[in-house]
Amino acid sequence: MSNTVRVRVPAKVNLALSVGGTDTQGFHELATVFQAVSLGDEVTAEVARPGEFKLAFHGEGAAFLPVDDTNLAIRAAKLLARHAELDDVGVSLVIRKRIPVAGGMAGGSADAAAVLVACSALWGLGLTREELHPLAAELGSDVPFLLLGGTAIGTGRGEQLAPLMTSGTYHWTFALSHTGLSTPSVFKEFDRLSTPGQPAVADELVEALRAGDVPAVGAALSNDLEEAAISLQPTLAHTLRLGRDAGALGSIVSGSGPTCAFLAGSEAHSHEIAEALAVFSGVRAVRRAYGPVAGAQVMG
Ligand code: C5P
Repeated sequence: MSNTVRVRVPAKVNLALSVGGTDTQGFHELATVFQAVSLGDEVTAEVARPGEFKLAFHGEGAAFLPVDDTNLAIRAAKLLARHAELDDVGVSLVIRKRIPVAGGMAGGSADAAAVLVACSALWGLGLTREELHPLAAELGSDVPFLLLGGTAIGTGRGEQLAPLMTSGTYHWTFALSHTGLSTPSVFKEFDRLSTPGQPAVADELVEALRAGDVPAVGAALSNDLEEAAISLQPTLAHTLRLGRDAGALGSIVSGSGPTCAFLAGSEAHSHEIAEALAVFSGVRAVRRAYGPVAGAQVMG
């Protein structure tokens, strides 16, 4: 067994995010289509002294992230140790971040998924994705999808997954904001602005994904949280308009935002959209990626 394990994990974008009412614990019922994209983080897990759980970040937004027990990555490692009844293990985690922090692309959830996979390998547990699923769902609604990857329909809180067979490659341009948005505050704003119905994923989107009809996928992108995200960060409306003007096939706030996602017709087109967005002072940085890609995976 190796003393070090490295895991690569994708970010996600929601191609559809339909939001309903809340359950008894205040979570909203969702019907969503997730796609895993090639903008990802890398987690290195190294054996540490028993009882020692350490965390360090490098890269995108590293300075803003807590490294104590409040971080989902540490909570994931401790949850797995408890679940496996291992009281003599420790781990030192180093996370190279590329996924924007508080950006609506599930960066924190991705790191938690990667830590589950990394520690399972590091501690010789060899747990399958199915066996890790309940732990992932306990950590957060998006964590199970980051284990699975690909494209999938999520229901319940987003943790009940049905993989979706799709055709083709989807090229994305992402516009990052100067400041993040907290997911609970966006859901709260959604509650203030909307009267939710029964959440559902449109058949048009599922059929377009199956057929690999990229323009039809672009036309069918939808996000019920978009209005709330724009209400909290009004510059997002201008960012979305810039991408549309650059010919994006679809322009959408990613998840709870504030990252905006633009579907391009080709890789070259994703560069053109990136150039058009980069000139706007409301955009902190631009990233390009493609999907679908695999979920959290040990690197060979
Ligand atoms: O599940 P997760 O910890 O990622 O959720 C973060 C927050 O987002 C929750 O505390 C809740 O405020 C909101 N949320 C929600 N309904 C969901 C998922 C998340 O209201 N289905």
